[in-house]
This record gives sequence, C-alpha cells and structure tokens, in this order.
Amino acid sequence: MRLAILGGGGFRVPLVHQALLADRAPGRITELVLHDLDPGRLAAIGHVLAQQEQGIPDPPRITTTTDLDEAIKGADFVFSAIRVGGLEGRVIDERVALDEGVLGQETTGAGGVAYGLRTVPVALRIAQRIAAVAPDAWVINFTNPAGIVTEAMSRHLGDRVIGICDSPVGLGRRVAHALGLDPAEAWFDYAGLNHLGWLRGVHVGGRDHLPRLLADPEGLVSFEEGRMFGAEWLQTLGAIPNEYLQYYYFTRDAVAVARDAGKTRGAVLADQQDRFYDSVRRDPGSALDIWESARLEREETYGADNRAMVGVDGRDASDLESGGYEKVALALMRAIAHDERTTLILNVRNRSTLNILDADAVVEVPCVVDSAGARPVVIDQLPEHARGLVCGVKAVDRAVIEAAVGGSRATALKALALHPLVDSVNVARRLLDGYQRRMPQLAYLRA
Ligand code: G6P
Ligand code: MN
Repeated sequence: MRLAILGGGGFRVPLVHQALLADRAPGRITELVLHDLDPGRLAAIGHVLAQQEQGIPDPPRITTTTDLDEAIKGADFVFSAIRVGGLEGRVIDERVALDEGVLGQETTGAGGVAYGLRTVPVALRIAQRIAAVAPDAWVINFTNPAGIVTEAMSRHLGDRVIGICDSPVGLGRRVAHALGLDPAEAWFDYAGLNHLGWLRGVHVGGRDHLPRLLADPEGLVSFEEGRMFGAEWLQTLGAIPNEYLQYYYFTRDAVAVARDAGKTRGAVLADQQDRFYDSVRRDPGSALDIWESARLEREETYGADNRAMVGVDGRDASDLESGGYEKVALALMRAIAHDERTTLILNVRNRSTLNILDADAVVEVPCVVDSAGARPVVIDQLPEHARGLVCGVKAVDRAVIEAAVGGSRATALKALALHPLVDSVNVARRLLDGYQRRMPQLAYLRA
C-alpha cells in the first residue's frame, strides 16, 4: 500500500508517521511518499521520521519528492495537508481582519475566506492531477479551510475525496470522559459543517447520556468546551457546540482578546516553526527531540486566547497528546483498504442528510465507512438555532469556490460581505483590498 502526503514537509507529518508505525496489521502502508515544494522542510521532517522509526520492524519505506505527479502516481491514498502561503499567509489572514475590527482567524470569518480564496485554486489543480494520474486513489483532505477545500476538490474527485478534522473527535473524547464513558464505546450524534457543528447526543448501550451531563452544571464545566461556553448557555442550546462556535457566540469578546494579544496565533507559530526547522538544520541528530518539544509547546498553547477569555489557564493532560487527527486518518484508511466497517465523523457530500442543504454541499456528519467509501448516516435534522448559521456559512463557502473558479473579484467580495462575522459591505471591500495588497496569490481575482 502506497500513501502520498502532500505537504510532506509539514510539522504534523510525524504524527501521521507515528500512526503508521503503530499499525502492525497486514495490508498496512509499506511505501510513504512525502511531497513538498520546500526541500529544506522535507529534509528536516525526513530526519524526524528516520529517528522515529528506529527499532521498529518493517517501517514504511520513505521517499521524498518535489514533483507532484511523481508523488501521486501509483498511490492508493493521498493525504493533502498543504498550507498555501505558509504561516506568513496565516498571519496576513488574521492581521488584516483584526485591523478592521473583525475576527482574524485561520479558518473562521474573514481570515477563513481569505485562506480559502488562496487555497482553492491550488486544491483544484491538485484534484485535477489526481483525477488524471491516480484516478483510483482515495484522497483524504486535511487542508484548511477543510469544508471549502473538500467541496472544491469533490468537483473533480466526487466521493473519492473525504475531509477530516480532529475537533469533533476531541470534543467527543472530552464529553465522554466528563460522562465517565469510554469514547471508543460511544456513538456521537454530531452534525454541521467543518468548524461549525454541534454534538447533540452521546449514545452508549442504546441510551443517550448527554442529557445527564446537560443537567449537571459541575460536570459541564469539567472540560474545555464546557468552560468555554458556560453551563447555562450549553443548557439553553441543549447541545455542545464545536469550540469554533465561540467565534460566533462570543464574537466581540474574541475580537477584543485577539486584538489585545499583540501576536496572533499564526505569528506565534511562525516564530516557533522557524526555530524548529532552523534547529533541526543545525542539529539533525536531535531532530526527534526538537520536534517533540515543539509539538508539546504547540498543544499547550493551542486555544490560549480563547481560554484567557473565560479566565482558564492550561489544558488537561489528555488534550496535550495530540488532537488525534492522524488517528482518524488511519482509521479511515484502514476501513477503506480492508473493508473494516466503522463510523467516523467526516466531511462528505450531503446527499439527503441535512434537508436545508443540497446534495453536493459538503457537511461534517457521522459516516459509515467501508471499501465503498464514506456514506453519511441518517441523523436528526439540525435544531432551528443552527440552521441559519449553517446555511449562511455554506453560502459563503460556495461564493469562495465560485470566485476561485471564475477568478471573480466581485464574487470574492460577496463571500466576505455575506460572512456573518463581517458586519458591513464597506468593511468587506476594505478587507479584500487589504488582502489583495498583501497577498500575491490573490492577484488572480479580477473585475
Ligand atoms: C484544530 C483544527 C485544525 C486547525 C488547528 C489549528 O486542530 O481542527 O483545523 O488547523 O486546530 O491549530 P494551530 O496549532 O495551528 O493553531
Ligand atoms: Mn479542523
């Protein structure tokens, strides 16, 4: 089995490699191809992986390349985990928005729209190459904004592209623990779009246990999302929102915290990553140790602004392991490759799952996965309070894709102006001007 990782010099690649090394079952990945545009990053991650596989029998054979067609040829699976414009791009997404007084965030609000406008054209080209060179490959998309990018790629790849995110899994794990349940035993009733979903039920032994937690104010504040949203608001909603909903329910507060923080998350990570790649270049023999301490620092500081907003310091030990996205990816790959039927929360085309959206809209819902791919499970419709947000944000996602396909500046402006977190068409105009001034990748958007 051959796996190609696009963005193979990326910081989280060793997590995927760890998951591959832990897989001892027959039919596991035997060949791993890392593709990246930056040979320096590829070399650094190559050192980490070489040290990580020490002492493990039959690790996958690793090759690296900067040639896309070479990477994907013959691949059974392709992981797409690219960051168009790098972390410098992320800082611009955040900063231009914050300077206009609106949320500046990697995937949500104006920042997410800018990131989508920069990424979709690249993702479409990759999808076209895969359809031409490796038409039988399954594509697992980690590239953010994952909902938009997966939907764009599905134009060329249909249901062979599946988007994944670690935040629903993390939420499920934390809520199960708060309930004293084993997450592996539970069926999580979760629905929405990527970074815009709600956990509505936790089923074990034919019973929904979430009402028990919703009735327990102390239990509700024993985990991250509970502290973030507050027991009362969770009881009002009757569901536990994904952590990204904080930007919608506490917009003004989140913008204030981010503006006061001085450095955005992207800027903090850009510094950290520069130090990481630089240290490995100087001391390749310690690559694995350097990576592990940088990884831990990244997890420890993840969501720090949002915690500061509610006066919480530090994270639970179980949240420092890793978000777990590599485990979802491996579970998905095994289910497809070995026809091991399982249920995972994934980004796939809606079909007739959520009746407020059309069949081709990519949604984030529980799916049954086997060798035929991922099919959304029939679930309850979204509650009324969620419907408006989901439809509004999906219209923005669609405008981003349409702008990227047609190169239309007017449609890009529509995407920004329609976003529920951008509060004036005039602001949207200034945002687009600001993004285009600072991002060469947006020059393709014309009148
Ligand atoms: C979560 C989200 C990802 C996002 C990441 C940002 O894992 O699910 O989609 O990219 O957080 O984390 P970072 O450490 O880059 O701020
Ligand atoms: Mn995510």
